[in-house]
Amino acid sequence: MTKQLFADKNPIRLGIWGLGRGSNFSRLCQFLNIEIVAGCDYNDWMREKFLKNNPNAFVTANDEEFLRQDFDVALVATFFPDHARHSIRALNAGKHVLCEVTSFFTPAQGVELIEAVEKSCKIYNLLENYPYMAPNRNLRRLWREGFFGDFMYAEFDYNHDCRPLGWTYIDGVPVQPGYTVHNWRSVQASHYYATHSLGPVMLITGLRPVQITAYMAEPHLPGLLKATGLAPSLIKMSNGGIVRNLVGGGTGDTHAKRIWGTLASCDATHKMEIRVGARGGGRRLSFDPVDSPEEEEVAKLARDAGHGGGDFWELYNFAREFHGGQKADWDVYSAADVTLAGIMAVRSAEDNNATLEIPDFRDINARNKYRNDNRTQKRLFEPNEIFPENLRETAKNFTQLMCKFDKWGTGADNVVGTCLVRQALDGMKLFEFIQDDDKKKVIYDVKRLVDALPEFAEACKEAQELADKCKGTAPERAIREFLEVAEAPRVLNTQAFVEELNLWLKQHDN
Ligand SMILES: NC(=O)c1ccc[n+]([C@@H]2O[C@H](COP(=O)([O-])OP(=O)(O)OC[C@H]3O[C@@H](n4cnc5c(N)ncnc54)[C@H](O)[C@@H]3O)[C@@H](O)[C@H]2O)c1
Repeated sequence: MTKQLFADKNPIRLGIWGLGRGSNFSRLCQFLNIEIVAGCDYNDWMREKFLKNNPNAFVTANDEEFLRQDFDVALVATFFPDHARHSIRALNAGKHVLCEVTSFFTPAQGVELIEAVEKSCKIYNLLENYPYMAPNRNLRRLWREGFFGDFMYAEFDYNHDCRPLGWTYIDGVPVQPGYTVHNWRSVQASHYYATHSLGPVMLITGLRPVQITAYMAEPHLPGLLKATGLAPSLIKMSNGGIVRNLVGGGTGDTHAKRIWGTLASCDATHKMEIRVGARGGGRRLSFDPVDSPEEEEVAKLARDAGHGGGDFWELYNFAREFHGGQKADWDVYSAADVTLAGIMAVRSAEDNNATLEIPDFRDINARNKYRNDNRTQKRLFEPNEIFPENLRETAKNFTQLMCKFDKWGTGADNVVGTCLVRQALDGMKLFEFIQDDDKKKVIYDVKRLVDALPEFAEACKEAQELADKCKGTAPERAIREFLEVAEAPRVLNTQAFVEELNLWLKQHDN
């Protein structure tokens, strides 16, 4: 029998708005006495899947109909730039709000959201989950006990290559119609997504960000429609300490978690290593993350729920607040702090790396200053107009075609297209210098490439023809970058390439 927290309370009735990411929460609710009673999404296959998992729930594509249903809390997981608008509509419909990252898209929306929450007297929580991962929870506990002293500096990353999400939904289904691309992920400036890396530092240290200087590297991953690179920023925190926050995506995801206090420091990027002695050369101690006695029960359930990460914790924190317990971390004010850091980073990077304040919307004067500020990022193209009208029929399989070059949700063992070619060829180049286990992986990649080449050559041919027809557009550039990195001339000379790879296998696979 599944253990359930808050079993002595009335169930919380939840409606999920946006059934891509939103559906991830479905399974966790049963452990927290949360009943999923409604769902809403434009996409029919997502609604069908939702209904299969929640057969008693009401599901619709119509958001007005969704909001008219009788439930306590709306979980807003709709398009990134719409969160403030949708949260305000949910509050006005009498619902509490759990909102996916981030809270709002412009400072003016932030002011409107805060004032709507204050007026509603409802609970608003931002669903920022990264601070609840075990190393971050441990760092927070020790930090709050004073173990690390005053905050000096931190380097946290959310360096995550999400390139294929420019042309698919989060479940890997290509965007339709195929001549359009994802309405925000394909164009959105990476700096907006500052919460997964800055959020943990805020909760560990209890500090808020006050000032930011941001950069946007120009070299970018091949095939990336928005053509921007890694995006670092330097953020001054309220005690004068600095966070180097790295977002965007490059070759090699990283999730650095390094933090320095005046008494001790920690590198929790892979394993937790704490340096003690209040000096540079102090002793390094390996530290096993543990759950404090207060956290133990929830942490165990989070693990049993199959999601040791943060999603369970954020639902738990909300349920606890809902039932009259401790307030959750991410109220609308701290949500505004972390969201504004992203917005101001976008501006700083666009405005020659200007150093900008991160206003505190708890203060009415700060709100008044930004009340009408609706500036958003500069957009290089419109996702539904990437092809001229006369080419849309020809390009109707563009998003499917792009999945043949790189597909969302494929780990190193399953990479496709351009990435498979590179992974195999680069592995072959390094072969004599790598360890035996890795040699086996390279051989596996080369065999997969041999099998995949005929079909991939067809995709390269189709892509080349499409690129020739749409000169000067973002798709043309993206396709040509993919073809170049995939060594298209070799791929298109398929027979010779297969023979070359087979010969190499004969020499190395023994
Ligand atoms: N915290 C995390 O780890 C994490 C992970 C993934 C995504 N997210 C966040 O979750 C949000 C959703 O992400 P996603 O990956 O599902 O991407 P998405 O933007 O593709 O999905 C939004 C979904 O909402 C639906 N939708 C949008 N507006 C609607 C409306 N008015 N009525 C009905 N349906 C509507 C869309 O059809 C779509 O399926 C994003 O803002 C993202 O930042 C967070």
